[in-house]
Amino acid sequence: MPSLAELAVEASTCRRCPLSAGRTQVVWGEGDPSAGLMVVGEGPGADEDREGRPFVGRSGQLLERLLAEEAGLRRDQVYIANVVKCRPPGNRDPLPAEVEACRPYLEAQVDLVGPAVVLTLGNFATRLLLATSERISDLRGRTYPWGPAGTVVVPTFHPAAALRGGGEVRTKMRADIVRAKEALAGAGRRP
Ligand code: URA
Repeated sequence: MPSLAELAVEASTCRRCPLSAGRTQVVWGEGDPSAGLMVVGEGPGADEDREGRPFVGRSGQLLERLLAEEAGLRRDQVYIANVVKCRPPGNRDPLPAEVEACRPYLEAQVDLVGPAVVLTLGNFATRLLLATSERISDLRGRTYPWGPAGTVVVPTFHPAAALRGGGEVRTKMRADIVRAKEALAGAGRRP
């Protein structure tokens, strides 16, 4: 299998789906390539499309704060990626065909990073990794075994939902991040 760096180079010119036509640049992902905790969001917004880095806008600021406060983790201690690597126009939801086209990249990222815990943010990341169509509000609040390597998925809300929804969503996100921290500790991995 190619390395993360090799895949990032390959993805930088990807034309597998129509999102490529509207992007400024591919937002591959970043962080510790052997992190114990991997965070998976939905797709780049305007800030990410401009900078080429995931979660650099308002959602990212909230994510960073919650990771620091609840798990004692800085963003460079985790690996952060998205379901789709190119910005959907007007921040619309990614279409099923776009998610499918990008899926091999995310699966390769999870395989190569080999995290003990994957924190999925929102419906798209959670549904894709857990192969379900249930809602994040029903799925969150527990851990799910994932794959043959003992990895667990911890679903939580997308930080954009917390920015919109306020205190209650944020409180649940905090609890989920504590859950992820405990799962990491249980796996003997830090961060
Ligand atoms: N929202 C996401 O899902 N991903 C990002 O990278 C930024 C905002």
